Amino acid sequence: MARELFNSPEKKWVRENFWLPALLDFRKRFPADVRFNYLTFAGPEGRDIEFFTRENPVFSIANIRVWERSDRAASQLGQKFGPELQIKCGEAFTLSSAEKEAASFPFAVINLDFTDGFFNLRTRKALPDKFEIIENIARHQQRHACGFLLLLAFNAAPDVDSEKGQPFVHRMALDIATRYGATKALFNLTRGAKNNYSDVLGDLVPAAIVRVGAEHAFDTICSGKAIYRPYSRRKSTMLCFSFEFQYDDPPLSQSRFFVQRRMEDLIEKRQQESLKVEAIHVNERRKPPGKAVSKRARARYRKLFPGPTPPRDCY
Ligand SMILES: C[S@@+](CC[C@H](N)C(=O)[O-])C[C@H]1O[C@@H](n2cnc3c(N)ncnc32)[C@H](O)[C@@H]1O
Repeated sequence: MARELFNSPEKKWVRENFWLPALLDFRKRFPADVRFNYLTFAGPEGRDIEFFTRENPVFSIANIRVWERSDRAASQLGQKFGPELQIKCGEAFTLSSAEKEAASFPFAVINLDFTDGFFNLRTRKALPDKFEIIENIARHQQRHACGFLLLLAFNAAPDVDSEKGQPFVHRMALDIATRYGATKALFNLTRGAKNNYSDVLGDLVPAAIVRVGAEHAFDTICSGKAIYRPYSRRKSTMLCFSFEFQYDDPPLSQSRFFVQRRMEDLIEKRQQESLKVEAIHVNERRKPPGKAVSKRARARYRKLFPGPTPPRDCY
């Protein structure tokens, strides 16, 4: 099969069956008088832009802004979509905190479609860069009292995160295990998580996102998780999430401390809910009929996709 950059069959599946339904569902609750716009990492070909403007017209080109760190990709994208598309060249980490860029907020849908790992820090830091980007974005959106849909994707292969990043993962696993008795991630990490690192992060990352949302007055719900391996390559395992950030709109008469106390309960509730959201394993779901499967695989299929039992010998 000819390989196209950022356009594997699995990625196409994610656009169509994960991003699009999340987006259409979110749009139903979005205020009709607020601009429905999109901030994205589109890549040189802008396949998501094509998908959301031509194949499933949800946005117009003029309502899309792109952050792109590669000059070459940005110029290719500009040539393809013309001057109506807003393209800002730079690192998302810098752009998310740049004063000038703050004027482009708020956005209804934000798609942080990273290509590398979430915890691949090179130096010791209080926060991983990607997490700080999300904090900066939440702050901009809060200023405009604007709820949003966050689509987040990053590489979650077992060896992608650095030694400096691993302690963040371990501390979250310990926290989730001790506060909620959810020990699966911690158990897998202590065994190396060679085959299930993406599932481990699938359990842990939402708890951190829920927390950062709540600290910026958003009731934050993890509405979906998906794991895919482009062209079945294990090394490039990608983990995707959708999060709804609903603005809580606290009355001006309530103190920050009072709001925080209320949010504390919400954080616990949403974190626990996020642990129950099952990740869709895209490659398994896409397997063509007729492939022989083991009893174990069939049981896993049934757990993931309850409903009619699949035929005896196929997915
Ligand atoms: C996975 S591709 C985007 C694919 C697109 N969303 C789609 O559905 O076809 C990611 C793009 O974002 C850029 N990118 C990745 N991390 C970035 C960052 N931290 N800041 C700015 N651009 C980034 C990459 O250069 C690449 O062109």
